[in-house]
Amino acid sequence: MEATIVVLAGDGIGPEVTGEAQKVMEVVAEKYGHQFHFSAQLMGGRAIDELGTSLPDETVEACRRADAVLLGAVGGPKWDNPNAADRPERGLLAIRKELRLFANVRPVKLHRQLIGASTLKEEVLQGVDLVVIRELTGGIYFGPRQEAGAEAAEAYDTMLYTRPEIERVVRLAAETAMGRRKKLASVDKANVLASSRLWRRVATDVLAEYPELETEHVLVDAMSMHLIRRPASFDVIVAGNLFGDILTDEASMLAGSMGMLPSASLGDVANSQGLPLGLYEPIHGSAPDIAGQSVANPLAAILSTAMLLRHSLGLEREAAAVEAAVDQVLEEGVRTPDIAHTGTEVVGTQVMGDLVTSKLRAMTA
Ligand code: IPM
Ligand code: MG
Repeated sequence: MEATIVVLAGDGIGPEVTGEAQKVMEVVAEKYGHQFHFSAQLMGGRAIDELGTSLPDETVEACRRADAVLLGAVGGPKWDNPNAADRPERGLLAIRKELRLFANVRPVKLHRQLIGASTLKEEVLQGVDLVVIRELTGGIYFGPRQEAGAEAAEAYDTMLYTRPEIERVVRLAAETAMGRRKKLASVDKANVLASSRLWRRVATDVLAEYPELETEHVLVDAMSMHLIRRPASFDVIVAGNLFGDILTDEASMLAGSMGMLPSASLGDVANSQGLPLGLYEPIHGSAPDIAGQSVANPLAAILSTAMLLRHSLGLEREAAAVEAAVDQVLEEGVRTPDIAHTGTEVVGTQVMGDLVTSKLRAMTA
């Protein structure tokens, strides 16, 4: 297969982890006879510095023409001025909107070898395997707002949802659940918010089309508690933009480290393969405190390439091979500092990437 991948390395540790992810994809191409063309583009803080905008037009165009986009992370203290006209995060929100990526898929799977790296008790974590599907281009992130200027004593954001926005993301979540353990929890705050009452009504309508699913509606505050009390009881969770943002950071702790979790942002735009054009990124941020030290965990970025191979290129065998290679490296007790514990061997970013590629090369299928 021939495919074009845009790489948005971004800021902080972004370039280090996407470097390793690209290296892994190059080995996949070589081993399985594909041609991947990588196109590096600017987005975020570095784009502000070099081109004066967090999302240059060339980047949007390149992403539109690509089969998939691989992203590192954006942001950092350098661009944190509250009065700045542009911010790195604005670029990320804008590219999600431009590419119509209405669903963010965040699988949370506990790698057996890392059970000791979590702050939660082993018996709570046993069997955790869930997917959070977060609505990504609506809600309070994009509703009408009033910024607080320097003198203002008032500011607001609006949580606005429309029926079609809720329908498409709940449908995607329902389809995902049908391919898994057939359980779906829809999250809202319907006891207080009007937009959540709409969410619950629309979700109920959509889910009526899936009688085989075991479904429940859970208030977001209760969900934040259930997630650390009985995480293994969840299969697919669907939530609006802000609730999904918060719950996925919480859920990432079930996997031991944020450095382990990949994500896919998907929409209804098809790529040249007839599959969804997606944006794939680790769920962690740009971690400016450890940038440039070669200690960042590249596994979330590498596992994001597995999601990319699967969802945007339809290469299931290759995706599974990348995931198996990561498992094998963990099995041998090799760790980056964020997931290290007594008895493990600590390595840096590039060595971790090299170990994954050598496992991949050695794989027989
Ligand atoms: C995420 C991040 C972003 C978000 C930030 C960086 C804008 O927290 O992808 O979860 O809030 O969506
Ligand atoms: Mg977040």
